[in-house]
Amino acid sequence: MQSVLVVDDNPVNLKMIQEILKDMYKVYPAPSGERAINFLERTIPDLILLDIEMPGMNGLAVINRLKQDARWLEIPVIFLTVLDDRVKEEQAFQMGAVDYIHKPVSAGVMLKRIHLHIELQKYRKTLEKLVEVKTNQLLRSQDTILEILVNVTSYRDNATGGHIQRTSFFTERIVNCLFEIGLHRYRLNRNYADNIIKSAKLHDIGKVGISDTILLKPGRLSEWEYKEIKKHTTLGAKMIDDAMRELGDDSTFLLVAKEIVYSHHEWWNGRGYPLGISGEDIPLSGRIMAVSDVYDALVSDRPYKKAYTHDQAMEIMREESGTHFDPYLMKIINNIMQEFAEVASQIQENTFELV
Ligand SMILES: [Fe+2]
Repeated sequence: MQSVLVVDDNPVNLKMIQEILKDMYKVYPAPSGERAINFLERTIPDLILLDIEMPGMNGLAVINRLKQDARWLEIPVIFLTVLDDRVKEEQAFQMGAVDYIHKPVSAGVMLKRIHLHIELQKYRKTLEKLVEVKTNQLLRSQDTILEILVNVTSYRDNATGGHIQRTSFFTERIVNCLFEIGLHRYRLNRNYADNIIKSAKLHDIGKVGISDTILLKPGRLSEWEYKEIKKHTTLGAKMIDDAMRELGDDSTFLLVAKEIVYSHHEWWNGRGYPLGISGEDIPLSGRIMAVSDVYDALVSDRPYKKAYTHDQAMEIMREESGTHFDPYLMKIINNIMQEFAEVASQIQENTFELV
């Protein structure tokens, strides 16, 4: 049986309402606002009938309290008002009441309105649940497609699998560090932070459009080859742009992914590519990715060089702070980069080696 909490300081009214509702609902009578709040600490009813004029905590004070507590926020509240108290009625609606009933109450009107609002609340909750289920399904599909895309990049070049995993970890660590510190310069909202973490894995997606002879070349690249490989930033951004147009989706996730893909090779001093933008004109996501990407390249074996140690890599990166890298960012993350060394040694290459 559904339940209704009735709050009224007048015992005659309280008794009468109880009589009207008792066959249809479980009724909890409360003779004051304070008693109602105490009761709500233990039991959550399906609806509240609330008198406005009461000594002590009046109806408006009660609803004000209800709307500040997540446990009570969504309980539908119907006010009991005397006829012609328009100001109070308006105030009650503004404060979140769903309806009002004039006193003296009509049994038929009261039962109909209570039934209507309890049904509406049930319907709303079902819809919310449905939206939540659909949203989760959509997020799962998005994650699966993301993993497929990441694997496509990895299979093109089996040295990239470990690189993607490591840079993804470094990026997550940097983003969370900035988020925890919450400095004005790097004020990140959680959604942007999560989207950077999620889309970091796609930073080199444009490499699928680069010829194998260049991508897999065991040695230093010629000037022309280097120019070709630089195109992975614009190619990747175009792929995401096309996907956004095709899907009619300009969600923050795809926008952030495009930012990272396009800007992770820009330099703080404007000497990077593809745009040659500088300083804070480079999206924060791209400045973070640049740090993760270069650190991993330095501490990894490449066809044309042996891996540097963590200390050597840090020395090189500190020297390039303010030219290649955002100097403020480098200062903040200096302490957490020691952890990068441990992760780099744990995640080895060939994780995605083809058989
Ligand atoms: Fe890249």
